[in-house]
Amino acid sequence: MIKYVTAMQRGAFMSKKWKVAIIGCGSFANSQYFPNVSKEANAETVAAVDIIPERAQAACAKYGIPNWYSSVYELIEKCDFDIAIDVTSIQAHHEINMAILGAGKHLISQKPAAPTVEMLNEQIELAKKRGVKFSCVPVHPMRFDINVAKQYIDNGLMGKAYYVKCNSSHGGPEYFQRRNTDPSFFHEEGAGALVDMGVHGLQIVTTIMGPAKRVSCMGKITTPVRVARSGGIDGMVINADKIPDQYVILLDYGDGRMAMVDTGFSQKASKAPMIEIFCDKGTISFSEPYITNPMPEIYMDSGEFDIRGWIKPGRPAHLPKGINNQCCCLGDIVNAIEKDTTPVLSPEHARHVLEIMCKIPEAIEKGCTLDLETTF
Ligand SMILES: NC(=O)c1ccc[n+]([C@@H]2O[C@H](COP(=O)([O-])OP(=O)(O)OC[C@H]3O[C@@H](n4cnc5c(N)ncnc54)[C@H](O)[C@@H]3O)[C@@H](O)[C@H]2O)c1
Repeated sequence: MIKYVTAMQRGAFMSKKWKVAIIGCGSFANSQYFPNVSKEANAETVAAVDIIPERAQAACAKYGIPNWYSSVYELIEKCDFDIAIDVTSIQAHHEINMAILGAGKHLISQKPAAPTVEMLNEQIELAKKRGVKFSCVPVHPMRFDINVAKQYIDNGLMGKAYYVKCNSSHGGPEYFQRRNTDPSFFHEEGAGALVDMGVHGLQIVTTIMGPAKRVSCMGKITTPVRVARSGGIDGMVINADKIPDQYVILLDYGDGRMAMVDTGFSQKASKAPMIEIFCDKGTISFSEPYITNPMPEIYMDSGEFDIRGWIKPGRPAHLPKGINNQCCCLGDIVNAIEKDTTPVLSPEHARHVLEIMCKIPEAIEKGCTLDLETTF
């Protein structure tokens, strides 16, 4: 169990090449993780795991990975690795995460890490007990544009940030993502638009505004039958009549502050900015793709300095460089291991987002506003 990191250990860590196992060799692993492991940290992929062995074998062949396994248990038994990335289907995350943490390995979990707050608490406790680092994506807290906005709010430039509006939607995984794998699981119990897309919007607004106090929501099933429009599954008919695919979520922060997350699988296109932050002294607006690390657009209104309008500040000097791909979470966890710090993508933040998502079905059903208990 790693409790204290000595200077000598730190020196050894800095020169260590971290061994990464990727569990789940589907669409996202192939687009974001396999190609970027060695770019984002001093790391190499030593194993590919999938319950469909051909996918693990294909990843090994394509990326020159030495080992493949068809279960997480086989990986744990046979392979020497340090960090696992769980990028399996949503419903598989809890079992895999518990197995990895129980084996004393560092873990990055795709979202949501668990179906309930209690289960995520089990994972958090297990990580602490085994002395390993545990982080949860999405990666929005690492974004350059969001960190610029936070700096402008925290240093008082924008005054009080009282309302954040976030649109986190696309037209559905069978439409939006050019995929060859079957996306049906996204529309089944345990998955759905809320945990797949709402999680992004909720992580974004809570990164900007902190933990919320109360939640209310309206949700609808807009498209109960879907026809795939992409890649190798073109024409596949998918039954999507179990879970809402369009949500409007309201978060209450008290003290005259609130946030709204518009999310789902029912918006094929939109020209709305992804995020807008409304403040006493102006507005911060995000419309560029964040992966390009753009500056947000700033509207300033100051009677004191007689200025009103959209301004174009240069890039702040003292912020992290931003991100180049979704595998930046690997750099975050390696940094946390080497310096014995908490990952930026903390599981406690993920737990707060999960609590909001878990309370939303009740808020919709009863048409009520529910208190939130977790914080981060
Ligand atoms: N962060 C993002 O922006 C983003 C975008 C897309 C997907 N995702 C997430 O990534 C994850 C995977 O999504 P995807 O689109 O790649 O799906 P996918 O179906 O293409 O890939 C998932 C893979 O996991 C494998 N798998 C399922 N259960 C397993 C188990 N018990 N053990 C080992 N392998 C198992 C499947 O066989 C499949 O190959 C999901 O959690 C999804 O929410 C995140």
